[in-house]
Amino acid sequence: MTVLGIETSCDETAAAVVRRTADGAAEVLSDIVLSQVDAHAVFGGVVPEIAARAHVEALDRVVAAAMREAGLGFADIDAVAATAGPGLIGGVLVGLTTAKAIALAAGRPLVAVNHLEGHALTARLTDGLGFPYLLLLVSGGHTQFVAVEGVGAYRRLGTTIDDALGEAFDKAAKLLGLGYPGGPAIEAAARRGNGARFALPRPLFGRPEPDFSLSGLKTALRLAAEKVAPLSAGDVDDLAASFQAAVTDVVADRAARAMALFAAAHPGMERPALVIAGGVAANQAIRARLVASTSQAGFRLVAPPLRLCTDNAVMIAWAGAERLSLGITDDLGVAARPRWPLDELAVPVIGSGQKGAKA
Ligand code: KG4
Ligand code: ZN
Repeated sequence: MTVLGIETSCDETAAAVVRRTADGAAEVLSDIVLSQVDAHAVFGGVVPEIAARAHVEALDRVVAAAMREAGLGFADIDAVAATAGPGLIGGVLVGLTTAKAIALAAGRPLVAVNHLEGHALTARLTDGLGFPYLLLLVSGGHTQFVAVEGVGAYRRLGTTIDDALGEAFDKAAKLLGLGYPGGPAIEAAARRGNGARFALPRPLFGRPEPDFSLSGLKTALRLAAEKVAPLSAGDVDDLAASFQAAVTDVVADRAARAMALFAAAHPGMERPALVIAGGVAANQAIRARLVASTSQAGFRLVAPPLRLCTDNAVMIAWAGAERLSLGITDDLGVAARPRWPLDELAVPVIGSGQKGAKA
């Protein structure tokens, strides 16, 4: 099965062609990602309207490049898959509408993919993982533990009640006058700094449910920074290191809880996998700590290559191929969804609205 995938839900315009054989093996025939990061950097975050316009301008060429790199025409593909949500709705509409047009013109089925399902199933492409496994998705927009039981079968074990983890890195970096995106900037500063200098809180540490709360930590960082302002370069490094140390402690603690819940639901499983995905999975300190906590819990850590951890279209094509292999396709009338929880049954931790979306 050969599937063209399209991803436009945030600030990457991406298209890819992936082949899935009957035994579930994968072959990536092309993988094009055009980042808009420079267009948004001056604003310190993704501007939805700029993103949508940039997708409109770039997507035709990006799709053409993916087809060219794969050496295929539209007649050679079995389906067109596109992210139908969740995400910035302008961008999602651009990608989904383009996919519908190609599907219609080529006479091929459309597969509307949940962006989070793309992240969730990537480890099956990269590592041939069987179901079930535990996923920690940590990006600029999402922070959640998900038990991945099968294609379309997801159980959310924990989420954030306020900011996403990547968002917390971005806000912390902004506060310290470091660049955007904030994660890599904080990590670089933290490497030079002393993580024990500022005693920052570890929100929700030790709580039984593997949820996160990050906005209080951000406030604590601001107060600590204000106390020693004006900040020297050394102060900034120490604050970044202290922030990263707090986050790393929290991630390890929350992961331990999530693994305990997963193990209890799947007794007798031999070394289950904890998969990490999302941009924050690039953080070496968090990775190193998760290697330790997984082995302590009798789990193994699976970290797909970074290129496939961050937003890309390979994961959308792959999720499309997985769905197609089960005979699941979508009507051309399918709607784009700004919000689309992976686990439709999971209730928001607190209230709804923004918390629900980030969950
Ligand atoms: O998955 P991603 O590329 O895009 C989405 O948000 O969907 O994730 C981007 C997020 C940003 O918030 C960025 O600051 C964070 O991932 N990030 C990091 C690191 N690299 C990227 N956070 C911590 N440490 C890093 N090295
Ligand atoms: Zn993503």
